[in-house]
Amino acid sequence: MSELTRDVIEASERRWAWVVAAVVGFVFAVIIFTSVHCAAQPPSNVETIDASRLHLAGEFMEENLGTAVEADGSVTVRVIAQQYSFVPSCIVVPAKTPVVFRVTSPDVVHGFLITNTNINTMVIPGFIAEVRTRFEKPRDHLMPCHEYCSVGHEGMWAKVKVVDQETFAKSYGGQSRASCAG
Ligand code: CUA
Repeated sequence: MSELTRDVIEASERRWAWVVAAVVGFVFAVIIFTSVHCAAQPPSNVETIDASRLHLAGEFMEENLGTAVEADGSVTVRVIAQQYSFVPSCIVVPAKTPVVFRVTSPDVVHGFLITNTNINTMVIPGFIAEVRTRFEKPRDHLMPCHEYCSVGHEGMWAKVKVVDQETFAKSYGGQSRASCAG
């Protein structure tokens, strides 16, 4: 191999090394930007629960599901993700209010995602997924399961209805658990 050919090959290799470094740098920049600017971070809540006894006792018994108003005015929403539905199938929450979602599964891994928000986490049997958020505007959001959970997966979704605080107090305030499911 002549001296000239070797120089050409080396120059080409070096150029490609810079291209790879630039791509890796870009990917890291995107990760840092989304985690800081869009608050896209891995869920940090680690809380275990006996997945075989959800319906028998504790916070995920049927009468405890849905939206509960806390003493400080914030709301806690408890949801069960199961093959192939969410319970409740329609969740109502007030706007401009701190909201905590607590979700768990009695069977397999499901996904918890609310469209047009940054809410997105896995729901793993034996663990409680917790998401803290606040909705600014009244509007409806779709809540599809986004982890493949077997044959009925594509039909597994629910709705989140964000209503203004007055509507929430008037329509749902008197009940211990609110849900817009009919
Ligand atoms: Cu539940 Cu996919």
